[in-house]
This record gives sequence, structure tokens and C-alpha cells, in this order.
Amino acid sequence: PRLPALGRRSLILGGAAALAAPAVARAADSSAPGGSTIRLVARPGRAALAGPPHPETAVWGYDGRVPGPEIRVRQGDRLRVVLENRLPQETTIHWHGLRVPNAMDGVPHLTQPPIAPGGIFAYEFEATDAGTYWYHPHVRSLEQVGRGLYGPLVVEEREPPPTIDRDVTWVLDDWRLLEDAQIAGGFGNAMEAGMTGRIGNTVTVNGRVPEGGFAVRSGERLRLRLVNAANARIFGLVFEGHEPVVVALDGQPVAPHAPEDGRVVVGPGMRVDLVLDMTGQPGARARVLDTYYARLEYKLLEIAYGAEPLRDRPPTAPIATLPANPVPEPDLARAERHAVVLGGGMMNHLEGALVDGRWLDAREMMRRDLTWTVNGTAAAPGGHVHDPLVVLRRNASYLLAIRNETAWPHPMHLHGHSFRVVARNGVPTRHREWQDTVLIPRRESAEIAFVADNPGDWMFHCHVLEHQAAGMMGLVRVA
Ligand code: C2O
Ligand code: CU
Repeated sequence: PRLPALGRRSLILGGAAALAAPAVARAADSSAPGGSTIRLVARPGRAALAGPPHPETAVWGYDGRVPGPEIRVRQGDRLRVVLENRLPQETTIHWHGLRVPNAMDGVPHLTQPPIAPGGIFAYEFEATDAGTYWYHPHVRSLEQVGRGLYGPLVVEEREPPPTIDRDVTWVLDDWRLLEDAQIAGGFGNAMEAGMTGRIGNTVTVNGRVPEGGFAVRSGERLRLRLVNAANARIFGLVFEGHEPVVVALDGQPVAPHAPEDGRVVVGPGMRVDLVLDMTGQPGARARVLDTYYARLEYKLLEIAYGAEPLRDRPPTAPIATLPANPVPEPDLARAERHAVVLGGGMMNHLEGALVDGRWLDAREMMRRDLTWTVNGTAAAPGGHVHDPLVVLRRNASYLLAIRNETAWPHPMHLHGHSFRVVARNGVPTRHREWQDTVLIPRRESAEIAFVADNPGDWMFHCHVLEHQAAGMMGLVRVA
């Protein structure tokens, strides 16, 4: 089979490989004094993304693999990761969603010097919150993440939740492959940066087109951890014939509930933990569809039941709420309110913006490939961020009222904190979910609330990595 031409909507046909789990790097004795050390090497490698008969794809990966090893620690453990850079460019690691000290946040020039090719850097922090997280570079993310540098990070609860038979991670990604299965260049194309960002033609789960299906047994109860590592693609998964229950969002527990419209939406950077009861008969097959983009539905994979049931039916015990993490509760009555306006992009008229403290008109911005703004400013990655969007007093409560005035959805990510999504379009949310990345549809709004308890300068940006690179980024200072 040939890979489709660029721009075609079909997905490539892979071989018959079954879905594989990411390799696991367990910080085995991380409760020992001083913790334990995981070594990661960021380097070029080859990955069988499309599966035979397609050639392997040249990627960049942690330990040369896609995804990088799944780092697993227990809540409260100290984690030490020594990163060696064998890429042809500078890099860092950002621990997406983990509330780490500022110096460990991995933002080049802001929290650490970038790691030069050949260099090493030791990250060390305590895993305060249980849940599903991930790690990726924060240098030229659109290319480095886009070439495969990312991995899942699971912080296990102190007491494993009862009645779960199997804990499964699916790292979702979206690639733009040429007919020889190699990654197409053109990262940061200004035209698509002003619209959807870089959407690819090949979707992988754990670094592989999941043609062979996902093997399950009748009667199993799974915990399924979804991580969206794609630059720009939003997923909206439907599990035909099954009833997934959302138990955590962005790592943080939420009251167990069915996803809205029966569809599990995962924007770039976001994670969703599901409990999935395998209610099918032995030998049955069921499709998992991605229906996010209207008229572009496709089958992500098939759930394939084995011949041997695990038991007659899944556990009947109700799905319990996961134990809460020690995230401080914002005091909404006293929270100071700040407006945040997302602007720019195609189909909007942009007069100009403040860039590096200077007003640039629309033409000047275009010359620099800057298309998006946050409160009238645009920050170029690597550019000097002069003025924070907001300065927050340590341990005070804040409410950011974010209005998306653009024609595109934006998953907005705040570093160093988890926040409650307390309202959408002026209406209180049902679950007041904790998130670190909030997906705001076009021309809609979201109110997020949190205690600014983590001192330092923190990035606040869109996780469509092309939007981030094209200006949709600012800085939140907790002083
Ligand atoms: Cu996952 Cu600043 O990013
Ligand atoms: Cu965006």
C-alpha cells in the first residue's frame, strides 16, 4: 500500500501489528532517600509508525523511541531524570501538568538555559499529585514534539484504586508523512499556523498505526489513560457499544461521569482517564471512532475481544472517585478577577500587537510569522517576554476570565498550577474540573480559578504548538 498524498484525509494502512504499550521506566526504589534516577537520551531514532510494509520513519525520540518510556512513580516520591541531548539542536524537558518548582519547569531562557547538543541537565522534583501527565521539550516544540519527542508520565495513587484489572496508556499523535513514510518538513508554516495548526495524515497510538486492534477480555475493567501529544489535532473518541466513564482530567480526579454527547474530547496537551468496562462477548469486535471534526470521522482502532473471558461480566462495584490531590482550593468569593482575551488568526482583522514591548503593525507581525495575541501582545518563543500578562500575589486566589475572540479553538495551558474550570460562557460547569489545559472553542469563554501558590514566572500558552510559536503565549508571574 502507498501512503496517501499530503492533504488527503484518509489514514494510511498499516500492517497487522497489535497495539503495543509504551516501554516503562519505573523509578524502582524512588522512595529510597535521595530517590532514584532515570536517564533519558533525546536523540534521532527510527520508529515503525506505519508498520510493515512501510519503511521505518526517522524520528526524534527519548531514547530514540516514540513515545519515550512511560515514567512511573508513586505519589510523594522524588523523581530525578538526567537528560542527555544528542539532538542537532538545543532542548529541554517540560513536565506538562506536574506542579514542579519553577527551576524544574524546562522553559528555556526563563527557568533554565537551554541544553546544548552534547549537554546534560538533571531534573529533580517531588511527584505531589497522582495522575496522568506527560513530558516534552519546550524548545522549538512544534518541531521537536512534532518529530516524536514526548513520553507519558504516570504518578500512581498511594493506594491503587480498587476493581481495576488493567492500567493502559494510549498516547495519541498525528503525523504528516510523505509517501516514503518520512516526516514532511515545513514545520511552522505561517498559513496553517494562522488556522488549525499542523494537522497530519497519519494517526498513531503509542507510536504505531493501530491496525491490529486493541486486545481485551470480556469482563475486564480497564483504566485507560489518554494523552494527546499531537501538535494540533483534537480527538473526540467514541467507543462503540461501550460506556466509558471519565474519572480524571489532566491528571486530576473528577466525579466519575459519562462524557458529554458520549464523546471523549482530548485537545492537544490534555489527558483524560477513563474507566472502561469490557462488556462485549468473547470474540467480539468494536470500533473506536474519532468524530471530532465533522465529516472527517475515521476509525481509530478496533477493540478485539479474546476467546477467553476474564469473568462473566465486569465488576458491578460502582466506580469510585479517585482520591483528591493536595491542590489548594481557590476562594471564589475573594478571588481577584482578570480578563484574558485571545485574538488574531485568520478570519480576524488584527491591527497589530505588542511584541517584545514594542508595537508592531499587522504587516510587521506577518513578516515575523506572528499571528496570534493574548491581551494584545504576541510572544515569540525565544523572544524576550517583557511584561507579564498578570502579576499574582503568592497564595492569593485568582479568576482568569478567558475569552476566545478568534475563529479557532485553543487549548490554553498554564504551567506550574492546576486550575478549576468554574464556568463556560458564563454558566457554572457541572464538575468544576481541575485542569492544566482548557480547551476553549471558537468565540467562547471559560473562567478558571486557582491559588497562585507556586512562585516564579510561568508560561501560559496555546498548546496548538503552531499557535504557540505564532504568538499565543504570555507569562504569568507569581511573586
Ligand atoms: Cu505541554 Cu508549555 O507545554
Ligand atoms: Cu491556539
